[in-house]
Amino acid sequence: MRIDFVTIFPKMFEPLLAEGIIARGVKQGLLDVRVWDLRDYATDKHRSTDDEAYGGGPGMVMLAEPVLRCVDAIGGGHVVMTSPQGRLFNQTIARELANKDHVVILCGRYEGFDERIREALQPDEISIGDFVVSGGELPAMLIADAVGRMIEGVVGNSGSVEEDSFFRGLLDYPHYTRPEELRGMRVADVLLSGHHEKIRKWRKEQSLRATLAKRPDLLESADLDDEARAMLKRIREE
Ligand SMILES: C[S@@+](CC[C@H](N)C(=O)[O-])C[C@H]1O[C@@H](n2cnc3c(N)ncnc32)[C@H](O)[C@@H]1O
Repeated sequence: MRIDFVTIFPKMFEPLLAEGIIARGVKQGLLDVRVWDLRDYATDKHRSTDDEAYGGGPGMVMLAEPVLRCVDAIGGGHVVMTSPQGRLFNQTIARELANKDHVVILCGRYEGFDERIREALQPDEISIGDFVVSGGELPAMLIADAVGRMIEGVVGNSGSVEEDSFFRGLLDYPHYTRPEELRGMRVADVLLSGHHEKIRKWRKEQSLRATLAKRPDLLESADLDDEARAMLKRIREE
């Protein structure tokens, strides 16, 4: 899969490409990640990428022309515009994007993008939450991480992605590692039993318990099988 970032701060992406899951995916040839410096597509000698807002008011606006020229140079891909006004990013959208061959992510700054960029590109506007951060670079990296780790082989053990929170519409079950006992807190005996079927059931039940306690709203749309439904009924009756 190819992911392109369009930004005025290309250096912000260096850590993403130096370490971690995305860097690993690139090294393995599973991800092709490219960072485009918007200033290279400016039309004036100052390499401007923003200007004052028509109508006045505080804050600068991202110029349309450099963004459109840069997207033309990229020459394709599903264009995502990072924006607090976009659809709220979640695992379903991450999966949707992971099914695309090529995603181009636009990173805004200042007051955001000249509205004509939306008109011209009809981008997929995506928000990472109902709050405002200073630029699209962190949202873009966050989106790329969630998407990139879904590409087969990027995460060493694909089973771990499938068991993550939200993958099946539920929160993840609790995880433990050594030691068996820590400051009086013991790991559940079943996890030390080596009994795979009992462990599977325990984890499934814990996943339901966590979801019920922390995000009961997810249960309304979770795709539960008969076993999960029976477990949930029992937990609710406790
Ligand atoms: C300071 S924000 C602009 C906010 C804009 N004036 C508004 O209120 O909709 C600058 C840039 O940060 C990014 N950004 C800020 N908050 C975001 C969010 N919640 N999700 C995705 N991108 C965000 C976008 O790229 C945005 O263009």
